[in-house]
Amino acid sequence: MRTKIVGHGFFVPENIVTNFDLEKIMDTSNEWIVERSGIHERRFIVPDGDVSTSDLAVKASQKALEMAGLKADDIDLIIAATLSPDFFFPGIGVLIQSKLACKAIPAFDLRQQCCGFIYGLQMADLFIKSGVYKTILLVGAEVQSPGLDKTTRGRDISVLFGDGAGAFILQNSDDGSDILGSKLYSDGRYYDQLWLEYPLTKKTGRISCEDIEAGRHHPKMNGRNVFRHAITKIPEVVFEILKEHQLTVQDIAMVVPHQANQRITEAVAQRLGLPMEKVYSNIAKYGNTTAATVPIAFHEAWEAGLFKRGDLVVTTSFGSGFTWGANLIRY
Ligand code: ACO
Repeated sequence: MRTKIVGHGFFVPENIVTNFDLEKIMDTSNEWIVERSGIHERRFIVPDGDVSTSDLAVKASQKALEMAGLKADDIDLIIAATLSPDFFFPGIGVLIQSKLACKAIPAFDLRQQCCGFIYGLQMADLFIKSGVYKTILLVGAEVQSPGLDKTTRGRDISVLFGDGAGAFILQNSDDGSDILGSKLYSDGRYYDQLWLEYPLTKKTGRISCEDIEAGRHHPKMNGRNVFRHAITKIPEVVFEILKEHQLTVQDIAMVVPHQANQRITEAVAQRLGLPMEKVYSNIAKYGNTTAATVPIAFHEAWEAGLFKRGDLVVTTSFGSGFTWGANLIRY
């Protein structure tokens, strides 16, 4: 049994928010954001409109289905990775199932933040190889923008994130394409280094007006600690998965990393000993779309002709938890 990525696609909202737009609402500058993160612009949904995370996910999924030449009815499992579901519960998996008009199939959410998609890819791979499901939709989708603290108080984090979605369709195949392996890790000692604490489950009413005034409902990050761990753990896990398959970085056509920060991507490329042409980056256009970065970047890199069928591609990520990992793909 082998697992083939038979389709992929992505969708981002039309609304472009540049660094200059952010300059108007908080004390920041285009220079600061570009120098520290490499981000020039990101996409935000129109707030308080009709579009939520599941809608972005559905659009990305339709594009992946189209590339695969399949219909929604062919899907027999949905795995949805997000930290920003439409509602506290249920998750977006079931909303995608209903909005795509799939038959009654299992659908579930993965709460692994920036690593949601690479965790989901291992799960999808193993479900296919076990013969339990034949056609799996794996989607990463986020609507971060309404939850960010877009004032000077939250500027260290709010300038980094954007909204978007990306999807893969995976099927059993015997033509040589495969997910050759995945390596996943977590270290929960760092849970509060990049987190969203409120609404707080154990608290009566979950959140108070005082909590909101104090901004406890916005994500918080120890940026330097995240940076330090990301540039260590990503190269470590990429080297580990390559070694396990008796491969070196020279065998890889493309590394598609999570898009957290251009400086993280450059440090990863340097530590891997790869030129930037082999480590895909699109953070300048979309910022950090969390669970959606890997499928969006994967699709764009493929569309740009940076890898083709038969090539080896590594997808890798690091994020909140902390969690990190990599997948080795024979595309
Ligand atoms: N605009 C202008 N100034 C800012 C902004 C902003 N948006 N944000 C922070 N500053 C100021 C700070 O207040 C500070 O001012 P001070 O020196 O007067 O106190 C100064 O800039 C430097 O702040 P630092 O936090 O020390 O800046 P640093 O060089 O560490 O860069 C950054 C911050 C970009 C967040 C960096 O730590 C980083 O890249 N971290 C990695 C985290 C990351 O990329 N997270 C993405 C999400 S996590 C993930 O997906 C893995």
